[in-house]
Amino acid sequence: MGDGGTSRASGSEREGARKTAEGLAYLSGFGNEHSSEAVPGALPEGRNSPQRAPLGLYAEQLSGSAFTEPRAHNRRSWLYRIRPSAAHPAFTRAQNGSVRTAPFNQTVPDPNRLRWNPLPDPAPETDFLAGLWTLGGNGDATQRTGIAVHLYAANASMDRVFSDADGELLIVPERGGLLLRTEFGLLHVEPGHVALIPRGVRFRVELLDDSARGYVCENYGAPFRLPDLGPIGANGLANARDFRAPVAAYEDVEGPVEVVNKFCGNLWTATYDHSPLDVVAWHGNHVPYVYDLRRFNVLGTITYDHPDPSIFTVLTSPSDTPGLAGVDFVVFAPRWLVGEDTFRPPYFHRNVMSEYMGLIEGAYDAKAEGFVPGGGSLHNMMSAHGPDRETFDRASAAELKPQKIDDGLAFMFETRWPLTLTPHAARAEHLQQRYDDVWQGLERHFRP
Ligand SMILES: [Fe+2]
Repeated sequence: MGDGGTSRASGSEREGARKTAEGLAYLSGFGNEHSSEAVPGALPEGRNSPQRAPLGLYAEQLSGSAFTEPRAHNRRSWLYRIRPSAAHPAFTRAQNGSVRTAPFNQTVPDPNRLRWNPLPDPAPETDFLAGLWTLGGNGDATQRTGIAVHLYAANASMDRVFSDADGELLIVPERGGLLLRTEFGLLHVEPGHVALIPRGVRFRVELLDDSARGYVCENYGAPFRLPDLGPIGANGLANARDFRAPVAAYEDVEGPVEVVNKFCGNLWTATYDHSPLDVVAWHGNHVPYVYDLRRFNVLGTITYDHPDPSIFTVLTSPSDTPGLAGVDFVVFAPRWLVGEDTFRPPYFHRNVMSEYMGLIEGAYDAKAEGFVPGGGSLHNMMSAHGPDRETFDRASAAELKPQKIDDGLAFMFETRWPLTLTPHAARAEHLQQRYDDVWQGLERHFRP
């Protein structure tokens, strides 16, 4: 899991962090032009960069898109901070631990269906960054295309601060609550919620429980946005108002703070003489946010057939080709199944897209066993998959009365290119050896 970093692990600090997390206020909405100030008067009126910013603060713009991208996709925020981000010493190379970055070419892309058990427990004093373990990915971070799939397992809070120049981080906790201290303010995320840290935004992860485990999609491509709804109409799926951004909160810390910067695949470190989480006020739309997956408005059939799983898209990162996502974040949330004369679990399929699935809690309705919370499966481009034998038999014989699926929360990172594994994922002890067996025993029923 790489170097352990330093940590704050005492129970009283956990309690303090939890109290802070549970009392947080938020700003509501997706992609809004938010504004927030931790000290009244810190935000300039009517301009972004006055001759002297209020309260002796420095004004700084953080861009998430090129200056000239269309207004609908343009992302930037203005930060008013105690010191400008430019005030830092040189970064030097740090150990990458188990973090890897695209292009992934150390293993041969695998056409097999693959499934992993959860990560083993980390060594003591492992923080979020030290506990980050890359499963694989696609594209090229330097070309800002593709994704990496990471898992994390941690048992200590970070003292250091992290930022990722390579992409935005969609954090999907499976075990243990997190308090994210970001440049924009604080976010609380629990299993069943997701958090997004935009490209380049500095943050620290503090644990609210003894351990934390989960998944991360590092998206090198276009920032996640809400999918278009087409004939669904103006509402539904993930509703914009349920996304929550932080209110401004700052650290006024003078003294050494380690800042780790992920840049083109490598970790770099510098020791600042102050905390870079020193933003007193900000405005803009390039912001971190959290979302409760249980707020997802699940739509499905009320006649027959299982809709394509794109109906469960929470967030999408579009590519240059209309309708073809770099990556979609899809959730399989509790829902009613009412389809008549329908095989109700996900159907057998082969897909040009590649699918990494994880399980946040409970069970997934296409797999009776072996797919466990904290584990994951990879079905790369054109690999054949679908319900296991037990699920097929049960669903084929089930009485088709309305049925509530409410015992699980699964998700998928669905991406346009095959995922290539890291060597450590390809030979991990927790890689299951006989996953193919779940499709054994699907008997011939054909009677011409
Ligand atoms: Fe699939």
